[in-house]
Amino acid sequence: MKNRKIIGVGYQVGNKCVKNKEFEKIIDTTDEWILSRTGIKTRYVSTNKNTSELGFLAAKKAILNANISKEEIDLIIVATITPDNTTPSCSCLIQDKLGLNKKKIMAFDINAACTGFVYALQVASYMLSDYKCALVIGVDVNSKIVDYTDRNTCILFGDGAGAIIMKQEDTNNEMIHYANSIGDHEGFLSASGLVIHEKLENASREIGFIKQNGSEVFRFAVGALEEAISEVLKKANKTLDEIDYVIPHQANIRIIDNVAKKINLNKNKLYINLDKYGNTTAGSIPIALSEAITKDIVKEGMKIILVGFGGGFTYAASYIEL
Ligand code: UT7
Repeated sequence: MKNRKIIGVGYQVGNKCVKNKEFEKIIDTTDEWILSRTGIKTRYVSTNKNTSELGFLAAKKAILNANISKEEIDLIIVATITPDNTTPSCSCLIQDKLGLNKKKIMAFDINAACTGFVYALQVASYMLSDYKCALVIGVDVNSKIVDYTDRNTCILFGDGAGAIIMKQEDTNNEMIHYANSIGDHEGFLSASGLVIHEKLENASREIGFIKQNGSEVFRFAVGALEEAISEVLKKANKTLDEIDYVIPHQANIRIIDNVAKKINLNKNKLYINLDKYGNTTAGSIPIALSEAITKDIVKEGMKIILVGFGGGFTYAASYIEL
């Protein structure tokens, strides 16, 4: 698919840095265990901003970075599993915060957990024939749904948002997508949120927290990332050697290392920042993309792959010529 281009990026993480050592005070763990089993050193928790506010801050930076007037935006898609409300959506709240209520805009949220941003990017890129300028955000305030007594999950997650501006443009640069989902793994990774129907017979589900079977998610993730990368390369008619950077979902360095080994991917081609931010769910990939571009590591003219997996299970990859 041609004629669409990412022209701006921005990100915002939570305000409070939480080091591994701090978990030693609340659960049975050690800094050494967390670092060696996940690669994470710190994560940022948002104690003063809700999901739409973090998304808004990332969006403002992306608009500035794209050097466009915010009035050009006619499509807002937010990927999140931790929205401020069931309705209005985060995308409508961000439209309001941007002062774009008088603009004709289509705004909606997507729930595909950690794959959310790649799904949203794909949807936006398909829509960029009717629409001209998309603001696509991945954001999660995971601390709202993390059980800080569960050592299997709480050490992994942070809060953050990443945003891109993608515009219809006359360009020969390719954007090729692959996406998949498998709906029968609820038992391995879930967060029930606030959706409880008291009239249902089985209404006794616990509310809210993320629950997971870590090793099952790990196993699934390795296969899913491998499949998504090889399928998107096939669709794009490219080899891994032709790719400058792979930006994977930042969940666990051991998952990424496993995939790199399986597909023979040079680790220098991976952009990793999970040591600093942990797993920010839908924020993870756009934060990494934004940071890599901001640091001038990933640049115009490069060929990159964004690849993610998450609850659902969902997984997806996008091949992008920047
Ligand atoms: O975006 C998707 C979100 N989820 C993920 O990405 C999760 C993917 N999975 C993982 O990252 C890893 O499976 C974990 C980090 C969650 C766990 O690492 P693991 O190497 O797979 O450990 P394990 O689940 O096989 O557990 C090994 C041991 C267990 O103890 P026992 O039963 O052998 O006595 C766990 O209870 O490690 C224990 N354990 C911990 N020990 C110290 C689990 N969490 C901790 C902890 N500190 N925080």
